[in-house]
Amino acid sequence: MNKEINSGTYSVLFKQKGFDYLSDHLSDINYSKIFIHVDNNTKKNCLDLFLNKINLEKYELIESKDGEENKNIYSCLKLWEIISDKNGDRNSLIINLGGGVVSDMGGFIASTYKRGINYINIPTTLLSMVDASVGGKTGIDFGILKNQIGTFYDPQMVIIDPDFLKTLQKNQISSGYAEILKHSIIYDLKTFKLLIKNDKTTHDINTIYDSVSTKNSIVLIDKKEKKERKSLNYGHTLGHAIESYFLNTKKKLLHGEAIAIGIVLASFISNKLFDFSFEHVISIKKHIDLIYSKIEINENEIDSIIDLLIHDKKNSHGKINFVLLENIAKPIYDVQVKTNLIKESFKYYLS
Ligand code: GLY
Repeated sequence: MNKEINSGTYSVLFKQKGFDYLSDHLSDINYSKIFIHVDNNTKKNCLDLFLNKINLEKYELIESKDGEENKNIYSCLKLWEIISDKNGDRNSLIINLGGGVVSDMGGFIASTYKRGINYINIPTTLLSMVDASVGGKTGIDFGILKNQIGTFYDPQMVIIDPDFLKTLQKNQISSGYAEILKHSIIYDLKTFKLLIKNDKTTHDINTIYDSVSTKNSIVLIDKKEKKERKSLNYGHTLGHAIESYFLNTKKKLLHGEAIAIGIVLASFISNKLFDFSFEHVISIKKHIDLIYSKIEINENEIDSIIDLLIHDKKNSHGKINFVLLENIAKPIYDVQVKTNLIKESFKYYLS
């Protein structure tokens, strides 16, 4: 894949072309120190793979613990401390080698250390390839509230290499696929029609490229999420609340698994409020039911999830704001939805 995606201040590059570009960048800038940020999984499964792709003579490894539950200020404190102890200065670089937790938190650390140092994202999960690593959002969770503390701060580049996907479990692939499906639903009817007729995930390099291009086009129009970027939150208002609610329970879900449920709920609500075709709602639900295990959610849990919505960062003036659809690729922003309709949408998902 020789194509690259221009994201304004940086490029998203694919496979070896990305690593060649990185080598040139490192010779050009001559960083005082290079920190490779991994978690326990990517240290084991991805670090050697990465080092085989690039000639890097000297670097320091910084490690955080994997999992959303570790994307917090305490992990940041440890990383800032290590970088400071190792004399990281303004001319240091952080290379985030990992999934969304590594890139979100590593980007946040880079954006705040010495008022901002350079960083590069090398996503190793499908989810971070098509979503977290692109778009310049960095951040950490605050208690159970996701991404409450963060910055907009662009990387120097993003390198996407599907070789890293070989290190993943199947559920990690289906988690990332939820964002690919979402990008097609909000922006790309042609891809939506192709994806939806399959009974499994589609995540070849061309699909990844198209998905990143979609996200990039939206971010270029509205980086700070005043309007169009909100469409990327399709399925996320309820999806985030579901993810947060189950985070510390036995039913803990991967991000995309929660978002897949949120997509079914938002599609159902879109049909009720904006005549989004019920045929689309049925085909989205059928497709998601084929790819993801059904999660049983009882009435008490639904009530607790709705309570959590109040804290969602997308709410303003105490109102719950949804992104909905009047058609595929035709999003509508800032819609308030009554609690009864939300409950009805859960019943539809569970049916
Ligand atoms: N993940 C949604 C966004 O980057 O805006």
